[in-house]
Amino acid sequence: MRLAPAVSTTPLVTSWDLLGVGVATGVGALLLAVVGARAWWTARRRQPASERGPAGGIGRRQLLEQAVIAVFVAALAGLVSAATDYLVTASGRRGHRYRLGSAEALLEHLRRSPDPYYDPVGGFYVVAYPAGDLPRARLAYHGRELAGMEDGFVALDAACPHGGCRVVFCRSSRFFECPCDGSRFDAAGELRRGPAQRGLYRYAVGVEGGRVVVDTGWRVPGPPPGTDTTGQPPAGPHCY
Ligand code: FES
Repeated sequence: MRLAPAVSTTPLVTSWDLLGVGVATGVGALLLAVVGARAWWTARRRQPASERGPAGGIGRRQLLEQAVIAVFVAALAGLVSAATDYLVTASGRRGHRYRLGSAEALLEHLRRSPDPYYDPVGGFYVVAYPAGDLPRARLAYHGRELAGMEDGFVALDAACPHGGCRVVFCRSSRFFECPCDGSRFDAAGELRRGPAQRGLYRYAVGVEGGRVVVDTGWRVPGPPPGTDTTGQPPAGPHCY
């Protein structure tokens, strides 16, 4: 069974941060080409023929200048890329309703995939919540958070509650982990290690007409430290 076309089943491949990297790299490469061509042309016009390189090219000094410019532009591209990733992850696209595939198809996808479902536009993860842990969940959650769990899903904001970096799903530990300062969250987004002070923010998620719907207009802070409804141990080494 396939998910509806609106659902990306290739997490991270088309994510906004990669888009940011692509845009920044493209702009950087373009700038580099323009600056390099301009420097080459200027140097060529000003230099006496006797000082030109063996094939009438640029001299050593100009080459060095261009190398410095190239390094500067590459650093700038990296900075723009990181800033794009941070801003998009931190702001997301709130206030939208995302209609994912059928609940059955999404559960099947989550069962087969080594990663949770990631929506690159909404900036959220969706994980399956184990039915066997619902009695504990009923003591710690309520309202729409609990309703989503009763439907079998949890939708988690990918932005770390500590500083907004995008948390990644570590395949070896099977925890969400933050590459910035090392906070860790289990697969249900519950806090396992700070400096974050809460679990991951949650969005409303539920099954409507057989399809999973995530409502990013409804977002609540994650549970406080000490909340552990699944008792999930790390499956292996942590990534951060
Ligand atoms: S931003 Fe995630 S731990 Fe600081």
